[in-house]
Amino acid sequence: MFECSAPGKLILFGEHAVVFGEPALATAINLRTSVTGRYSSEPKINGRPLREGRDNYVNTAMSKVWSGRPLDLTIKTNLPSASGMGSSAAVTVATLGFLTSLEGTFSKEFIARSGFEVECEVQGRASPIDTTTSTEGHAVYLAKEKNKGFLWMIERGGKKWFLHARDIPRMKIVVGDTGIKARTGPLVENVRRLAEKDDSARKAIKEIGEIALEGLDSLRNGDFDKVGELMNRNHKLLGSLGVGHRLLDKYVEAALPLSYGAKLTGAGGGGSMIALTDHPEEVSERIAELGGRSFIVETETRGVIVDES
Ligand code: MEV
Repeated sequence: MFECSAPGKLILFGEHAVVFGEPALATAINLRTSVTGRYSSEPKINGRPLREGRDNYVNTAMSKVWSGRPLDLTIKTNLPSASGMGSSAAVTVATLGFLTSLEGTFSKEFIARSGFEVECEVQGRASPIDTTTSTEGHAVYLAKEKNKGFLWMIERGGKKWFLHARDIPRMKIVVGDTGIKARTGPLVENVRRLAEKDDSARKAIKEIGEIALEGLDSLRNGDFDKVGELMNRNHKLLGSLGVGHRLLDKYVEAALPLSYGAKLTGAGGGGSMIALTDHPEEVSERIAELGGRSFIVETETRGVIVDES
């Protein structure tokens, strides 16, 4: 049987603010999740029965697109879970890719849209940034209006996200994983509550959106000093929204003397930080010395793919 795989992602700029409709930029990375499967007497994952409350992303993805015979899905990944690297989006997108290929209805746009629906159902609130990046590969930019490289528009809860494919320079990025698994849904909900009552939180969200736009321009111009400066500011603003963590700050501080910039990535509250640096090995060692799990990842152009071999 064929296999379908999808990449993880890193948000370079704009996490959390993007849920409020602000611009954001993410890139796919060279860590992937693959899904294959065979028919079975009951729905299973890796040979064990699917469990409510445990396999939420796969379960919800299946319920959206699959009405055929039960399947035993084999899922493999080298993405750590709940660490800000898009493991949930990758498993959702790879599952949808596999199932729609099996039905002969594979389409990237459909997968990205359905993947977003799955994340909303499981997490409560979400933006389409993770699932579109995992589907499309390259870098994905979310804007408030249609622009060059337009992929599709996704609308929900009065918000409109215009998703664009973007080419950015190939980069190695150091990821420092705290190992603290924080769930995205509650973090997103806390930011929503804060924004509802606090004017400075609303201002921070707006500024993060402006940073994302400037960050994209700086990256495309190869101005890494500016990119680093914007990453540092983005990190501080995310901290002010209550999604930071003292370990993330520690890793960022350790990375900065050797980096253009560093910031938390993804939902925060634990999870991971990223550093943009010309010295990935050294930065990675510094994070490891502080007890973090570090990875040197690369930007990736491939999104969801079906491998027939
Ligand atoms: C999580 O990777 C990114 C958040 O902005 C949530 C979302 O956009 O769905 C925190």
